[in-house]
Amino acid sequence: MAEIKVVVGNIVEAQVDGIVVNLFEGVTRPGGATGAVDRALGGEISRLIDKGYFKGKLNETFIIPTFGRIPADHVLVVGLGKASEFNLDRVRQVSATAAKALRRVGCKKIATIVHGAGIGGLEPAAAARALAEGTLMGLYRFDKYLTRPEDTDTGRLDEVLVVEFDAAKVPTLAEGVEQGRIIAEAVNFTRDLVNEPANVLTPTEMANRAREMAARYGLECEVLDREQLESLGMGAFLAVAAGSAQPPKLIVLKYWGADRSEAPIAFIGKGITFDTGGISIKPAQGMEEMKTDMSGAAAVLGAMQAVARLKPRVNVIGLAGCTENMPSGTATRPGDIVRAMNGTTIEIINTDAEGRLVLADCVCYARKLGARAIVDLATLTGACVVALGKVASGAFASNPELLGKVKAAAEAAGEKVWELPLFEEYRQQLKSDCADIKNVGGREAGAITAAYFIRVFAEDTPWVHLDIAGTARADKDQPYIPKGGTGVGVRTLVELALREAGRS
Ligand code: BES
Ligand code: ZN
Ligand code: ZN
Repeated sequence: MAEIKVVVGNIVEAQVDGIVVNLFEGVTRPGGATGAVDRALGGEISRLIDKGYFKGKLNETFIIPTFGRIPADHVLVVGLGKASEFNLDRVRQVSATAAKALRRVGCKKIATIVHGAGIGGLEPAAAARALAEGTLMGLYRFDKYLTRPEDTDTGRLDEVLVVEFDAAKVPTLAEGVEQGRIIAEAVNFTRDLVNEPANVLTPTEMANRAREMAARYGLECEVLDREQLESLGMGAFLAVAAGSAQPPKLIVLKYWGADRSEAPIAFIGKGITFDTGGISIKPAQGMEEMKTDMSGAAAVLGAMQAVARLKPRVNVIGLAGCTENMPSGTATRPGDIVRAMNGTTIEIINTDAEGRLVLADCVCYARKLGARAIVDLATLTGACVVALGKVASGAFASNPELLGKVKAAAEAAGEKVWELPLFEEYRQQLKSDCADIKNVGGREAGAITAAYFIRVFAEDTPWVHLDIAGTARADKDQPYIPKGGTGVGVRTLVELALREAGRS
């Protein structure tokens, strides 16, 4: 991953391959650093604006070759959009857009100003954090399996200098950049897990990577295997694992940032390393996408990594319930009845509604560990994608206060969530003739009945569920979200942990 450093100086003089300056839409005479670069280029940026070649629209770019007028070979002007609409997420976007555009023309080392800290009116540390987040998330690529040079030789950007004129501001900016780097590295760690194919990323491999990460950043890590899940009575989790040759793993990560007597908050992730549907098998079309059905678990591992590095004063437990969902002679059948850890019996109507079964036992386990609040993340339902598309994650809650905190954290982190209701009436749809509950509630309100199922196991522990089925995988490139695993949820969970500790 590229290095980011904050340095004092004048960006016009930076000894780099390319420099990044910016412009708000509608500004005709650039000021600040952009103005200084404009003057060094004999007014070329102003002329681009006058001619209408550059309007400053959000994420618009224009690259000017400097031909020796300044040390850098390229000046990239990036549009910030309307000043009245400017915010931290736009800093993430334009930082990513600029870094990618300069990488495309072969720059290895670039320098940038902090977007938005001047006339943008943003807090310098927050703007610097967003700049680092956007740059490093935007530069992410998953290319480890591309072996032909013509596919991989698309440039590498090694170093980003954040240039600040005022030396007094440097420590604040450096702190923001450091936070942003930690968060972006956690998101990219999560994306690597999500993008990895299921033949490589088995539950066992996921546990290995979690152990390695935990050892590196000083988290407690325990991995429960099949026998331990049996002893705990996790019949719902095990029912999903029954058809697979790969053994299931429940990954437990613990971060102690506060006194050990303080009850932890728990993050739980659905970790189906491949979802075939089981005996209720899915159609072939698009089934390869089900390698990303462990995105919730991957987000929890990423969030725990960032928490371990940022060290907020709060206790956090991360649980990742990992298994494949496969059909075989040992697989669970529709009609089977199993018993979850808390004794609740479940009639399995459809083996493709497996995520809620795994989460049910994980939620019981989080309660046993003494969690005071639970947030789970899961690529749970196609119905949620129908409702909200790929724009927002669905949010469901048993507790309005915790939901408020999750919503506020998501908003600050630049991740969209939207609440769907859990009215009591929906519980009827989960009534079974022969067990306490069944695992599907029919076609209507599919995302809600799935969430309701998990809620039953959370009992009186404040609980929020995020359905990330639509947001965990991008099918097109966006400024700081490349096609593929998005790492959604990491930033929200980290922000929530920071806020719980009174930091952010
Ligand atoms: N992993 C899927 C949900 C999913 C669908 C995630 C599309 C990402 C994109 C989940 O396990 C599933 O198969 N859900 C079923 C539930 C149904 C059988 C009640 C669904 O949504 O169709
Ligand atoms: Zn499924
Ligand atoms: Zn699934």
